[in-house]
Amino acid sequence: MASQAVNAGPAQGPKPRVFPQVKRVLVISGSHSPFLFVSVLCGVLLAVLTVASAHVSARMLDAVLGGNLPVFVRMVWFAIAIAGAQSLLTAGKRFMSGKFWQGASFNLRHALSSRLSRATAAAASSEHSGQVLSKLTSDLQGVQALVETDLPDLFVGLVRGSLAIAYMLWCDWMLALVAVLAAPAVFAIVGRLNAPVMGLSQKTQEALGDANEVATESLVGAETVRAFGLQDRLYGSFVRHTDRWLSLSLRTGRIQGAITAVGFGASFTPFILVLGIGGFMVLQGRLGFGSVMAFLELMNHVAFPMRDLPRIMNQISGEAASAERVLNLLDIPVEREDGGDFNPDPALPLVEFWNVTFTYPGATAPALAGLSFALNKGEMVALAGASGSGKTSVIRLLLGDYAPDSGEIRVFGHPLSEWSPKALRRHFSCVDQSTYLFPFSVAENLRLGRDEIGDEELREAASAAQAAEFIESLPKGYETPLGEVGNRVSGGERQRLSLARAILRRGDILILDEATSALDYRSERQVIEGLREHFSDAAALVIAHRLSSVQYADRILVLSEGRVVEEGPHDELMALRGKYYQLYSIQQEGRERE
Ligand SMILES: Nc1ncnc2c1ncn2[C@@H]1O[C@H](COP(=O)(O)OP(=O)(O)OP(=O)(O)O)[C@@H](O)[C@H]1O
Ligand SMILES: [Mg+2]
Repeated sequence: MASQAVNAGPAQGPKPRVFPQVKRVLVISGSHSPFLFVSVLCGVLLAVLTVASAHVSARMLDAVLGGNLPVFVRMVWFAIAIAGAQSLLTAGKRFMSGKFWQGASFNLRHALSSRLSRATAAAASSEHSGQVLSKLTSDLQGVQALVETDLPDLFVGLVRGSLAIAYMLWCDWMLALVAVLAAPAVFAIVGRLNAPVMGLSQKTQEALGDANEVATESLVGAETVRAFGLQDRLYGSFVRHTDRWLSLSLRTGRIQGAITAVGFGASFTPFILVLGIGGFMVLQGRLGFGSVMAFLELMNHVAFPMRDLPRIMNQISGEAASAERVLNLLDIPVEREDGGDFNPDPALPLVEFWNVTFTYPGATAPALAGLSFALNKGEMVALAGASGSGKTSVIRLLLGDYAPDSGEIRVFGHPLSEWSPKALRRHFSCVDQSTYLFPFSVAENLRLGRDEIGDEELREAASAAQAAEFIESLPKGYETPLGEVGNRVSGGERQRLSLARAILRRGDILILDEATSALDYRSERQVIEGLREHFSDAAALVIAHRLSSVQYADRILVLSEGRVVEEGPHDELMALRGKYYQLYSIQQEGRERE
């Protein structure tokens, strides 16, 4: 509980506004919202019955003390009726709130997954995937706690407390004032006593957190720890933190024990006061003894909610923060759905970049600064250049993941703004630096939903990508589920699978971004030759750090700080003795040393 309050607490950032979030959840819940209102209504009726039951008990007691049998019997019937109604309403309240959340969480998850799947690349890359997961799990639980329980309970509690106060005032205003005011006074005093413990228990939590951090680090970084012989150091620091935690928690325990004892005694004070003053009033004949008992019962519904109010408010505000985090996901920018699909125009280049400039959101220097080039049918163009020179950015813009700040990108002669992003990507076979393998069979991972691809074609693509041998060595060949061998697939094998995928996709333009970096020189050559064969009608845009693997390209564009500084085939660029020559010579030296 404590740690949840620390994590989700409102301490950081501005206070989240509760009602806008709740309103939004209700709107999303749509036709399921009425269930929540019925559940709250049941709660309000239960609150009325709580006061009614105190009143009936009071009358019953007075009837017993006054020897009034008919009233007593009547009150017994009332009590039975109230108890019956209470159990029905309690069940109804639970059922309705459960039913509400089933529907609401379905709608909410649906809305979230639909939004996330349509998010723009820019939005998706700014959301940390771990954080999105936590939003989808623990924050969603926070939303549930907020709308299904805590907020309705707070509301019903306030209604119940107000009704109880009204009833007490109606019985006897003086005793009511004692009952209502004594409790907060006592709780304020106990709260004061508690203050030092709060600070102490925070320190205890921190010490425990430090110890856990050391333990986690030594597990996560186990390899580094062993390699650098840091075991003793980490263990020493772990022992220091746990010692501190132990002594702090013992001290907290002692103080807490004392305060609990005082608090326990103090919490009876208001009841004893009401019993004493009420008893005096009974003796004076001003009040029935039954009413005093009703006071004692109803005080519970006033005093304890008052004591718990700050904690509940804090909890609600933490949950509202959770809700805000989840609901903000529904506002992340999504890709546009308009635009068309076009076919290559034989008279025009497949891809054209016209003076394209682009700066990533939040970055200071541009990634591309006035870049121009064209890619023609049947051509293989390589992008070379130092790390950070903008090679991957060219591809991100080409795929429509980001829009240029100025200049224009055309595919098949049409500016990207005329294209539908989905249709655009269908014309590309893209292999990038990260390959995701789904927990399906190898064959399904290669087909990726396109069942029309026959076994023959599958094998051919695999062998062109130099993946056939490794796939056939798997326990069930093409039918081996990758979930089971997922960890056993090496970086190079992963790349081969990803290349086979690209071949099967048969796009008009092949894009390879460091797609062969984990292959040895010989396999890389074979793969590139295989790909050229498969994409002889298409065009290819290839990025590779190893210049030996791009030297067979028809043209090489050498990028530096986001613009093309040299352009031409390998031999020409070598003869220039410029940037390309430098890059190439450095790599050759490295290779010879190997
Ligand atoms: N998502 C991003 N947000 C901000 N800046 C980015 C982002 N991605 C890349 N950059 C920056 O843009 C510049 C170009 O990056 P890019 O990824 O295009 O380089 P690259 O040539 O592909 O490098 P590498 O060879 O290392 O893959 C770099 O300075 C990089 O730091
Ligand atoms: Mg890159």
